[in-house]
Amino acid sequence: MKHYDCIIIGGGAAGLMCAATAAARGKSTLVLDHSNKVGKKILMSGGGRCNFTNYYIEPTNYLSANKHFCKSALSRFTQWDFIALVDKHGLAYHEKTQGQLFCDNKASDILTILLNECEQAGAEIQTHCEISKVEKNELYELQSSQGPFSCTSLVVATGGLSIPTMGATGFGYELARQFGLQVSELQAGLVPFTISDKNLDSCKALAGVSLQALIECNNQSFNDKLLFTHRGISGPAVLQISSYWRSGDELRIDLLPGLDLEEQLKTWRQQGQKGELKNLLSKLDELDLAKSFIQQWLQEDAELRPCDMNDEKIQRVCHALKNWCFKPSGTEGWRTAEVTLGGIDTNEVSSKTFEAKNVDGLYFIGEVLDVTGWLGGFNFQWAWASGWCAGQYV
Ligand code: FDA
Repeated sequence: MKHYDCIIIGGGAAGLMCAATAAARGKSTLVLDHSNKVGKKILMSGGGRCNFTNYYIEPTNYLSANKHFCKSALSRFTQWDFIALVDKHGLAYHEKTQGQLFCDNKASDILTILLNECEQAGAEIQTHCEISKVEKNELYELQSSQGPFSCTSLVVATGGLSIPTMGATGFGYELARQFGLQVSELQAGLVPFTISDKNLDSCKALAGVSLQALIECNNQSFNDKLLFTHRGISGPAVLQISSYWRSGDELRIDLLPGLDLEEQLKTWRQQGQKGELKNLLSKLDELDLAKSFIQQWLQEDAELRPCDMNDEKIQRVCHALKNWCFKPSGTEGWRTAEVTLGGIDTNEVSSKTFEAKNVDGLYFIGEVLDVTGWLGGFNFQWAWASGWCAGQYV
C-alpha cells in the first residue's frame, strides 16, 4: 500500500491550493480525483475568465450557520496573498466591477498556476480515481480504482453538489457522516429562479432583456442586473438573492431603483407632459430602459400621458415598476447553481486548522463546508484561504 503524509480527495480550487501548500512544507502529498481532469469548475468559472478573487473580501460576504467561522482563514490568507501568487506567475488580470478580479485571457491560466505550484512543490495528482472505502486505523486507509493508499492526514475537498456533469458528488458529505460529523441541509445557491404563475408570460416575452434592479428577500437586498429568461429570472442580482431565499418566500423587486418614479410622474404632470410614458421613461439616460420593456411591462398603461394621470394611475404605474412582488415556483436547481448552501457543520471543524475536532487527521476545506460566498470571487477566495490554512497543519 503506497503511503503519503497527506492525501487530498478532490482536485478543485481548495484541494490544489492545499496540495501545493502542504507539499511546499515537505509533506509527501497526493491529490485523488475521480474526474478525467482536475479543476473543472475553475475552467468553467467567470464565463471562462475565472473571477478568482475580489478586492473587497469581508466575512459579511459569506453565508454560514456560524458567521464567525470564516473570519480566521480569510484574515490569514487574504485576497492580497492570492493576488501576489498571481503576480508571481505574471498573470494579466483586470477588475470588472465591484472589486471582482478576472483573468485577461482565460480561466485555465489560474489552473496552470496551481498545477505549476503543485509540481514545483512535488505534490502528485491522480485522476480517474474512484474511492470505494475509507477506514481509520493507525493511519487512514483508502481503497480505490487506482489501488490502495494510506496517509496520516486525510483532507476532504470534494466541493458541493452543483453541476453534477462537472464531477460534483456528495462524497464529502457521506464521508463526514461516516465519521460522525453533522451535515446541515443542502440547497442550491447562486441560481436562477423559475416562475410558473402569470408572471411567466412577461418573462418569456422579455427573455434576454437585462436591466438594473433592487431585489429584496429576508432582510437582504442586492442592486445589480436582472435578466429575464424563458423560465423566469436570472442575472447577478437574482443569483445573489437566491442564496437568501427559501421555498415559499416572496421576492420584492424594484425595476427602477435609480428613480423616484412617483415624484418624476408628478413633476411631469405638473409640467403638462403630453408624451407617452414609454417614450418619456426610455429617454431617461440614467435608466437605460428599453421601450419594448416598458410596453410589455405596463401594457396599455405604457401609453398613458402624465398630463392625464390622476393619483390612482400614478400609484398603479409605480406599483408595477417599483414594487413587483411574487413567489418564485422554485430555482433551476443543481443543474445551473454555482454553489451549495449548507454543508458540513462548521462547529465540527477547527477554524484554525480545518481538522475535525473529534477525528484526528481528518480535514475538510472549501465548499463542502457550510460556508458559501456571494457572487463575485468570494467562493474561490474561500477555497484558496481554507486550502492554504489546512495546508499549514496537515
Ligand atoms: P470544486 O468543486 O472546485 O472541486 C471539487 C473536486 O472534487 C472536483 O475536482 C471533483 O471532481 C472532485 N470530486 C468530487 N467528488 C469526488 C469523489 N467522489 N472522488 C474524488 N474526487 C471527487 N466562484 C468564484 O469565486 N468565482 C467565479 O467566477 C465562479 N464561477 C463559477 C461558475 C460556475 C458555473 C460554477 C458551477 C461555480 C462557480 N464558482 C465561482 C464557484 C466555485 O467554482 C466553487 O465555489 C469552488 O470551485 C469550490 O472549490 P472546491 O475546491 O471546494 O470544490
